[in-house]
Amino acid sequence: MQEIKFYSGENIPLELHKVRIVQKLNLVPIERRLEALYEGGFNTFRLSTKDVFLDMLTDSGTNAMSDNQLAAMMQADDAYAGSQSFYRLEKAVQDVLGKKYLLPVHQGRAAESIISIAYVKKGSLVPMNYHFTTAMAHITHNGGKIAELLYPEAYVINSDHPFKGNMNIELLEETIVNHGPANVPFIRMEASTNLIGGQPFSVQNLRDVRAVADKFGIRIVLDCSLLGENAYLVLKREEEFKNSNMGEIMRTMTALADLCYFSARKISSSRGGGMCSDKLEIYKELEALVPLYEGFTTYGGISIREIEAMAVGLYETQDETMICQSPNFIKYLVDSLDQKSIPVIKPAGVLGAHVDAMQFCAHIPQTEYPAGALAAALFLISGVRGMERGSISNQRDEDGNETYADMELLRLAVPRRVFTLSQIKYVEDRLNWLYDNRQLIGGLRFVYEPPVLRFFMGGLEPTSDWPQKLVAKFKADFGESL
Ligand code: F0G
Repeated sequence: MQEIKFYSGENIPLELHKVRIVQKLNLVPIERRLEALYEGGFNTFRLSTKDVFLDMLTDSGTNAMSDNQLAAMMQADDAYAGSQSFYRLEKAVQDVLGKKYLLPVHQGRAAESIISIAYVKKGSLVPMNYHFTTAMAHITHNGGKIAELLYPEAYVINSDHPFKGNMNIELLEETIVNHGPANVPFIRMEASTNLIGGQPFSVQNLRDVRAVADKFGIRIVLDCSLLGENAYLVLKREEEFKNSNMGEIMRTMTALADLCYFSARKISSSRGGGMCSDKLEIYKELEALVPLYEGFTTYGGISIREIEAMAVGLYETQDETMICQSPNFIKYLVDSLDQKSIPVIKPAGVLGAHVDAMQFCAHIPQTEYPAGALAAALFLISGVRGMERGSISNQRDEDGNETYADMELLRLAVPRRVFTLSQIKYVEDRLNWLYDNRQLIGGLRFVYEPPVLRFFMGGLEPTSDWPQKLVAKFKADFGESL
């Protein structure tokens, strides 16, 4: 795609679509937002959207859908078995991901569950570039453990390394030798490390992982949920691919994996998920579990309409004018925050902008969840809902001890083609104010902690009256402004 330059010299991400269906948003007064925080246990997952202005919780199921996706939904072939909608999706998976056999599932974690049930047992170790919450929960639930094998640069907040999601090849080999290849059911590669800044890996790195996998006869499982965005950054950052198109890059990556799975809520701007492989033997190993947990193998627990939207959405992932939107808006936000010296993960990655709460709230100890506190504070003063990606999102160890995350991040997701530039500027403006008033933010503590995936429904409370003090300062500075 050719670059679009502004005469003014400004670096602006230009929207390459027009908006034809809109949804009204509510920006409620700060007093109501304060009440909403208490009602929701200072957990942004538990807020009601009637109180949320800009929903940057996630890109999962929130990307804008295209006219063609909506049109396709109207021609869905509702059938329990053998639906034509399934065959259209199967063809899309073959064309876009280059894999012959497809098993649909209701969303990404259902694939993680089935893959873990099929391959993980007590004593298994799954090496990966980084864990995702649900992927790890299913592996540990089935008795296995994970090993995160990144290079040190992955943990450097302010960096210009293009591929911080690269697997540490030397460590991978060493880990497999030490643990015994027979106890390593698969190597998991996550296209863009969700929890530590949406950072991509390079195709060359995946080739190197492939070489190690082949040496020991181990499968590679590729989490393709953010494959399109990872491929876009390969196009922009990996010399060998600068003249390739999106489809070629995506298929180069999937061809290096034995089994691919995805959350369609992300990759295809729809709902659902899937697992696909070229290997009949892998397909057979997983096939029986789909009717048991999901639904018949031609619908996998997904509405047939969403299957149609998924098929069209997969093709659209190859369109650079669509796929560039989220990463380019993220880059704009990251660069603007960085110019104001607000600590943010660099270089800009995919999925969202990631603010470093450890620096932003340097006065809050990790035991009081700085990223959760920052997420609550930003919602309070702006109505912008982000997601805590730090120790609250971590799971306790086998002995029930708290484990602290490598990074304490406030993730501000930028779903595809949803927000306008002035909305992004509003986020930047309010974060800027909050940074100037950051000493007013205080810590959080759990009052209700669920045993599994505690970040979803957990309840917390502030360790002092800091939210009230923040409200008072906001009112002093902004007067009657919302
Ligand atoms: N893998 C990755 C890399 C993901 O980002 C997600 C979901 C999943 C797997 C699970 O897919 O939600 O369809 O079951 N990520 C969402 C997020 C929830 O907000 O980052 P799912």
